[in-house]
Amino acid sequence: MKRFTLVLATLAFCAAATAQEPVKIGVVAPFSGVAADYGKQIEGGMRTWLKQHGDTVNGRKIQLIIRDTTGPNPEIAKRLAQELVTRDKVDFLAGFGFTPEALAAAPIATEAKTPMVVMNAASSVVTTRSPYIARFSMALPQVSAPMATWAARNGIRKVYTLVADYAPGLDSEKAFIAAFTAAGGTIVDSVRVPLRNPDFAPFVQRIKDAKPEAVFMFVPAGEQSIAFMKAFEERGLAKEGIKVIATGDLTDDDVLQSMGEPVLGVITSHHYSAAHDSPENKAFVKAFTEVNKDLKRPNFMAVGGYDGMAAIAEVVKKLGNAIDGDKAMEILKNLKMTSPRGPIAIDPATRDIVQTVYIRRVQKVGAEYYNVEFDKFPDVKDPGK
Ligand code: PHB
Repeated sequence: MKRFTLVLATLAFCAAATAQEPVKIGVVAPFSGVAADYGKQIEGGMRTWLKQHGDTVNGRKIQLIIRDTTGPNPEIAKRLAQELVTRDKVDFLAGFGFTPEALAAAPIATEAKTPMVVMNAASSVVTTRSPYIARFSMALPQVSAPMATWAARNGIRKVYTLVADYAPGLDSEKAFIAAFTAAGGTIVDSVRVPLRNPDFAPFVQRIKDAKPEAVFMFVPAGEQSIAFMKAFEERGLAKEGIKVIATGDLTDDDVLQSMGEPVLGVITSHHYSAAHDSPENKAFVKAFTEVNKDLKRPNFMAVGGYDGMAAIAEVVKKLGNAIDGDKAMEILKNLKMTSPRGPIAIDPATRDIVQTVYIRRVQKVGAEYYNVEFDKFPDVKDPGK
């Protein structure tokens, strides 16, 4: 009897030992340099989920392995993804702030059959580059087309477009122009600015001279938004009556406070605002600020990290110790969740997100600037596919 108990105890011990193998998630994003906050917001969102729900799922501890691309830097992203799958043997790749970094890592996910959970990179093409990619952020055409439809419905007829000259910018320009002209609008002209350190002054001057009713723009969130609004103010476009409409990358919650008065009243379309009015979002914002003392509030990248983490947890709940790339993708492909941003689903045909796109206006709420949602387009798929 004693021996039997001992065998049972040993078996239980072994089971517990295997059950306790951590789930490894390799998080690839910029954590230093100009886009350092991309990584911090994404990781912050993931850690917020772990704080709210606990860091052990189905008996397995969740381990985040953080890797800094210092980017945008596709070569480094590729090398880091490769090391994470071969050396660290991660169960998931996650993160990906910039499209070129996600594109560089995609073949590694395919070769290793490792699910790759995209938490920001937002060019349409990203999800087509590997059957192991699922996206929990947005696609630029998905947020740009509703901005065009809203503008046309609200009396804006002549628009100048300005976008960053790389895949997300080109996607945004194309989707905006298609939807705006289909709704009867006219494009006065279009300009593309360099991805790295653009000097906005000459471009903004050209826009002023062309006298459009509005400029529609997309540049990657962060420093560039501040630089654009500064040039727009200095060249006096607002005084000429030229409006700014944009994707919400411009008025990103991470930098909105630093943009000052000129950003008041700017209208944008996006999938997330820290001011979104729901109980889930209130709880998310509160937990996020408790977990991330150096970040003032969550932005759209944080909600991508949070929902991507929730999705990974769903896979671990269902597969436990037997995580397999193909089975994981079946689960990810069919997910439907209530996110802090509202209802979201993954389209099984494209592995891309379907979600509500909100139209928002920058307003002061108390002493702070927020993107206040006032209109919405429900169940939007990426029209770029
Ligand atoms: C991207 O490179 O896909 C990207 C980067 C920043 C954004 C949106 C998209 O704000």
